[in-house]
Amino acid sequence: MPGNGGGRYVRELAFATGVAVLSWVVTLLSVLILALLVSLLGRSMFWYNHFYASICLYGAAATGKMVLIHTLAKNLYYGGVRLVELGDLYLTLVWLTQQGLCSAYVPMLMVAFPLATRLLLAREFKNRGASLKYSVLYLLGLGLPYVHFMFLIWVVFEIFTPIMGRSGTEIPPEVVMATLVTLATIFLSSFFLHFIYLARSTKWILAGLASVFVVTFLMMSCGFLFPYSASPESPRPKRVFLQHTTRTFHNLQGQVESRDSGLWINSFDYTGIQHITPHIPDINDSIRTSCREDRPFCGYPWFLPVKFLSKKNWYLPAPEVSPSSPVEFSLLSREETSWGTVKMTFSVKGPSHMSLYLMPHRGAGLSTWSFGDGTPQFDLSGEYFVFYSRGLDAPSWTFWFEIQPPRDPDPSGPEGMISVAISTHYFFGQDSRTAQLEEVLRRFPSWAFPSSWVSTYDMYRY
Ligand SMILES: *[C@@H]1O[C@H](CO)[C@@H](O)[C@H](O)[C@H]1NC(C)=O
Repeated sequence: MPGNGGGRYVRELAFATGVAVLSWVVTLLSVLILALLVSLLGRSMFWYNHFYASICLYGAAATGKMVLIHTLAKNLYYGGVRLVELGDLYLTLVWLTQQGLCSAYVPMLMVAFPLATRLLLAREFKNRGASLKYSVLYLLGLGLPYVHFMFLIWVVFEIFTPIMGRSGTEIPPEVVMATLVTLATIFLSSFFLHFIYLARSTKWILAGLASVFVVTFLMMSCGFLFPYSASPESPRPKRVFLQHTTRTFHNLQGQVESRDSGLWINSFDYTGIQHITPHIPDINDSIRTSCREDRPFCGYPWFLPVKFLSKKNWYLPAPEVSPSSPVEFSLLSREETSWGTVKMTFSVKGPSHMSLYLMPHRGAGLSTWSFGDGTPQFDLSGEYFVFYSRGLDAPSWTFWFEIQPPRDPDPSGPEGMISVAISTHYFFGQDSRTAQLEEVLRRFPSWAFPSSWVSTYDMYRY
C-alpha cells in the first residue's frame, strides 16, 4: 500500500532488498570468522555438550550484527522517511524472498499469519500507530508459526549436533554450526527487522546481546565448556577406534619388504586426540601418520572406506599381534586373456570380517571382477574397497579380477601393475584382545568411547 508515488516505492523496495541481503551476507561472514577464531583457539565443539552455548555465542553474534546493520541503515539513510511504511517494505521483501525456498507450507505460514494479524489490527494501527498494544498483538499473531519454525530448526540441530561427533577429522564443526545458527537467526529474525525501524533506539538490545556474547566467549576460551560428557542421561561420547595391527608389505618378487606393528588410532571428530593426550601422554602428535600414496588406502586397515573424511590418524608402536587363525592369502592363478587383460584369481581364508583394497597403478585399470554385476566400483580416491563378512564355517573366499596392464608404465610409481591388500578384523573372542589394548583402554577417561579390535594388513604387488 504505497502512500504516494510508485517510483519512490520501487526505489525504496530495491534499497531495502539491498540492505537485507547485505546484512545476511555480512552477518554470515562475520560469524564464520568467529567460527574460525574458535577453531584456532582449539575450542572446537564447545557446544557438543552445552548446546545453548552455541546459540549464546553464534546466535548473539548473528543477531547483534543484523540489528547493528539495520540500525545503521535506518540512521544513515532513512532519516526523513515515514518509518511506519518501512515495516511494510520489509514485509513484502520477506514474502518475496521466502518464495520457493522451503517446502511450500513454511512460507505460507510466514505470510498468512502476519498478514491476518495485520489486517485484524489495521484499525488500531491507523488510529494509534505502532503502539504497545499493536506490538504485543502483532507478536502474538506470529507466535503460532514461530513455535512451529523453532520446532523445525530444533530438529535440524538435533540431527547435526550428534553427527558432528562422528563426521571425521576434516569437516570443521564450527563452520557447520555457525552457519546453521546464522541461517536460523536470519530466518527467525525476518519479521523482527520490522521493529528495528519502528523502535526509537536499539542501544539496549545491542548491549544485551553484547554481554551474552562476551560472557559466552570468555567461558568458551577459558575452557569451561568441555565438549564431552559421560553422563548416562545425555552422553556426549568422544568416539575413538583403536586397531592393534600388524602390517606386512611384500614387493613384486613376493619377499617381505617391511613389517611393523602398532595401535592404529582414529578419532571420529575434528578435535582429534587433543583431549586424549592429557590423559594418555603416549598418544600425542609425534605419532601422527602420513598417508603413503603408494599403498592401498594409505597402508592402514580401514574398516570403512572413509580415508578422505579422517585424514588424521595415529600409530603407536606395539608388539606384533598373533591371532589363533591367521589369514591365508594366496594367488590361485594368473592368466593372460585373449582380449589383452590379466585375470588373477585369489583365495582367502581368514576371520569373519575382512577388507580387500585394490590399487591399480597409474595407467592400469580394472576391467571386470567377480563382485556385484561385474563392473568395478571405485571409491572417491580411485581405489577399490571390498568389505567381506561371513557366518561360521564358510568355505574360503575366492574372487577374481581382470586388469588391463598399462601401455607405458609410470617409472616413478610403485613397481608392477596393481597393489592388493587384505586386512582382517578380529571383532570378538580371544583374538580381539591384546595386553597392549587392555592397558591403553584402561587409561581412557570416562567420556571417551573407544572401540577396539585386532587387525592385520598384508599388501602384495603384482
Ligand atoms: C609422545 O609420544 C611418544 C610416543 O608414544 C612418546 O615417546 C613421547 O614421550 C610422548 N611425548 C610426551 C611429551 O609425552
